[in-house]
Amino acid sequence: MCGIVGYIGSKRAYPILIKGLSRLEYRGYDSAGVALLEDGKLNVFKRQGKVLDLTNFVADNPTSGTVGIGHTRWATHGLPNDINAHPHTSGDGSITLVHNGIIENYDILKKELIKRGHTFKSETDTEVLVHLIEDIKEKSGVSLAEAVRIALNEVHGAYAIVVISPEEPNKIIAAKKSSPLVIGMGEDEYYLASDATPIVEYTKNVVYLEDEQIAIIDRENGLRIISISNKEVSPYVQELEMQLEELEKGGYEHFMLKEIYEQPRAIHDSFRGRLNAKEGWVSLGGIKDYEDQIAKANRIIIIACGTSWHAALVAEYYFEDLARIPVEVEYASEFRYRNPIIRKDDVVIAISQSGETADTLAALKMAKERGATLLGIVNVVGSTISRVTDAGSYTHAGPEIGVASTKAFTTQLVLLAMMALSIGHKRGTIEDEKFQTLLDELEALPEKIEKLLKSDDYIREVSTIYKDAQNALYLGRGSSFPIALEGALKLKEISYIHAEGYPAAEMKHGPIALIDENMPVFVIATHGENYEKVVSNIQEVKARKGKLIAIVSKGDTMVREIADHVIEIPISDEFVVPILATIPFQLISYHIAVMRECNVDQPRNLAKSVTVE
Ligand code: AGP
Ligand code: GLU
Repeated sequence: MCGIVGYIGSKRAYPILIKGLSRLEYRGYDSAGVALLEDGKLNVFKRQGKVLDLTNFVADNPTSGTVGIGHTRWATHGLPNDINAHPHTSGDGSITLVHNGIIENYDILKKELIKRGHTFKSETDTEVLVHLIEDIKEKSGVSLAEAVRIALNEVHGAYAIVVISPEEPNKIIAAKKSSPLVIGMGEDEYYLASDATPIVEYTKNVVYLEDEQIAIIDRENGLRIISISNKEVSPYVQELEMQLEELEKGGYEHFMLKEIYEQPRAIHDSFRGRLNAKEGWVSLGGIKDYEDQIAKANRIIIIACGTSWHAALVAEYYFEDLARIPVEVEYASEFRYRNPIIRKDDVVIAISQSGETADTLAALKMAKERGATLLGIVNVVGSTISRVTDAGSYTHAGPEIGVASTKAFTTQLVLLAMMALSIGHKRGTIEDEKFQTLLDELEALPEKIEKLLKSDDYIREVSTIYKDAQNALYLGRGSSFPIALEGALKLKEISYIHAEGYPAAEMKHGPIALIDENMPVFVIATHGENYEKVVSNIQEVKARKGKLIAIVSKGDTMVREIADHVIEIPISDEFVVPILATIPFQLISYHIAVMRECNVDQPRNLAKSVTVE
């Protein structure tokens, strides 16, 4: 996700745009740019780097003009560089726009527009949109607003856009679908932004644009809203109550909670243009050219650290079960010093949110020297790991500000699930019916997580009981065992309570000695192959007076009889249980950390990206 701003009124637009972009920089900071309109002339300034880099670049250039747009980017398509920075401009310079979101069908549209003679400068999906609007406007001679409306009917995906043109200098056009856009209503002036943070200091009166709506703001006639099917919509003006600080966190108390709640959107973005259950396909463009090599691999080695290493452990279950390829999961920090056996027909996958983790990068470089094929599952576009690998896929989770990884982890699991499904389907190791079922399960995740988040109040109540625990045990079996490790790490790293994750069956080989009435035991006990065995493990804990908090399938009755608390997750195939079961553990650790007055977003001793060894 990125930050977009716009202004039309009687003031100089440039300082308003720059200040607005600074307020939105937490949404993305790969590059920044502005476009200013004055006397029918368009001035565009854009630069890789932060907003400050842009202002230094603009320096003494002319920045007058009372109409303008701005963008601070979180790249999804195309490296963070000057060319891919927004705003993007049409071939004839008659239209410029900024965009937040993903144009899923940009590839098809781009090929068609190139056939029609359009030339592209950038690698972004966004640039396709501005050329499409130009093409429509040229061919049909319609207004800018109408050309935008027609274009948006041809586009699939997510967008929040703001568009201006020297040919219609007294207008700003905006539109949104899935990405946010707010319009601030001033005195004969209008402010546009991805959220209200750049607006609140000028006006408290705002209109939140709804999906598939287009705002046409005209200096003389003011604000008009239509749907993309051309129906008039009366603007609903609200009064902002939140303060600036809260607004940056979208009204949440911490970035971590905001990012937990962003998971439905983040997971939806992670499979945009990559998975279509209705049509029965999954396709990761970023690894397309390497699918044969992966399918023929003798072995897949997955290297990562921390939470990303937990994602690797889940991926082991995915690839071995669905694609029947042997997988080895390695702590990057151990792998790099062990002088491991790496063969040319090995495929090495590096998983990293930041794409900068020193141990993971070093292990990857070693694998490269020994001739393996390197793939990356990374969140930050253009990060070092993404550039060292031969290919890979971005998780599209958006910026993750909280040090404790949440939406990056669940989107890693979705990417790895899609990769295993795609390779298994190619190898013919998944029956068609199971393949379709698992596609449906993935596509249903955002809605199931929305439902699951509704039990947050109950989860907070349960967390209150255990906030003073000195230790905790997390148990899981099969592909839920790595989630037990992840739940324990979450609790450790933000609440500073010692916690251990264990395979549920392993408990009787030692850790059961720890169980007493002071030991909370969090266990994943969802319906499936291991259910009865996990119930026996739960009995063992109860027999020693342990306190049991169980994550169960909706409607479970057996575990409910034994555990002290149960948290239900929607009925699902075991394939997606690791993703769903993670959410309650994230919330439990969050609420306990808040109650213990810990610094949730920046826990002591930790950093968001560990670029030291
Ligand atoms: C996760 O909550 C931690 N912040 C940490 O374990 C993190 O996962 C680890 O440092 C790896 O980071 P990366 O995914 O950016 O490589
Ligand atoms: N998909 C567009 C790009 O990569 C916009 C990304 C964003 O929302 O920041 O430039």
